[in-house]
Amino acid sequence: MEDDKDLPACNLSFLIGHLSFFILEIRRDLLYNAKITATAHYVPKKVVTNEDLEKFLDTSDEWIRTRTGIRQRHMVEKGVATSDLAAEASRRLLERRGISASEIDCIIVATVTPDMFFPSTACILQEKIGARNAWGFDLSGACTGFVYALAAAVQFVHSGAHRKVLVAGADVMTSILNPQDRNTYVLFGDGAGVALVEPTSPGEEGILDFILRSDGSGGKYLYMPGGGSLNPPTHETVQKKMHYVHQDGRAVFKYAVVGMAEVSLEILKRNNFCASDVVLYVPHQANSRIVDAAVERMGLDKSKVVLNIDRYANTTAATIPIGLSEACERNRVRRGDLVLMASFGAGFTWGSLLLRWAA
Ligand code: ACO
Repeated sequence: MEDDKDLPACNLSFLIGHLSFFILEIRRDLLYNAKITATAHYVPKKVVTNEDLEKFLDTSDEWIRTRTGIRQRHMVEKGVATSDLAAEASRRLLERRGISASEIDCIIVATVTPDMFFPSTACILQEKIGARNAWGFDLSGACTGFVYALAAAVQFVHSGAHRKVLVAGADVMTSILNPQDRNTYVLFGDGAGVALVEPTSPGEEGILDFILRSDGSGGKYLYMPGGGSLNPPTHETVQKKMHYVHQDGRAVFKYAVVGMAEVSLEILKRNNFCASDVVLYVPHQANSRIVDAAVERMGLDKSKVVLNIDRYANTTAATIPIGLSEACERNRVRRGDLVLMASFGAGFTWGSLLLRWAA
């Protein structure tokens, strides 16, 4: 039998438990949710096909297509930088949203190919588009950079600090590729994608959840060793080709297949959704075989998957926002649809983000 003397203490802790739960719920209601209100993208005009690469690399259209799904990629002309691509995409976004650049509060640029070490590409972009009331910063998350940056933007909106955060994923990968290395040169392209993150209106759900992961022990499989504080540029670093991407493709492939599927399934499960609830899946596009494997593990209908690697190759941080922007242009997503994005890249970095489309 229970001792009656313990009951008041029990009731008190029960009450405190319930009270703190309600306070948390009220706080949650007071916070702003965030949503994506507009997207846009830009890729340079110059198209380089697999056949073009055959002319100077020991490779073939057949190998590239069957091993990766890539048919062509866009490449910048000399003198065009990451901020130029991001600026063009941003101008398109501002026009679509019908706002002026001065309304933007904050700019986050996800990139591994900043125009230069400093100033940040965010500052250069701010100047180029005339976002004079914004501050900003660059975020280095490789192929997962855009998902990381979106999650950061959500925090600024969530806290009430900002109402319009411009999130860009932009990379000129050709600036760090060795044109004589068939292992890497065929895989990447240049481009930029942007999204505007704003508070939701009453009754809207917007961005529901995200999972962000990293594992630094994977750094050795995909990296650019030269140019930083460890190996500042010298004749030797140039001769040793240290200013180019180095990748153990096979190793990255194995981790990417598992990582992409894992964060995609986990985010659905913890939000009580299943694959059939997803209307649009926007995966990072490093290799169509990685996407296929993730989609198969998820049991997702292939018609829901954004796949444009054939036209753009891997544009690193730009890949997901380009995919999202194209899906919007093609009316593949409507208000209220459940959208899932997932990525895996250098670091290792990987993550997923789940949202109700509210644009
Ligand atoms: N053309 C012809 N042959 C080639 C080419 C090419 N372009 N590239 C490699 N090969 C050869 C290799 O030399 C090898 O020959 P060998 O057997 O005589 O040694 C053979 O093809 C097979 O090479 P693998 O590396 O085993 O080929 P694989 O099927 O693994 O495909 C690839 C390589 C496409 C790189 C794949 O491993 C991959 O997609 N990896 C993951 C990439 C990724 O996800 N990166 C993360 C994002 S990028 C970022 O974060 C910046």
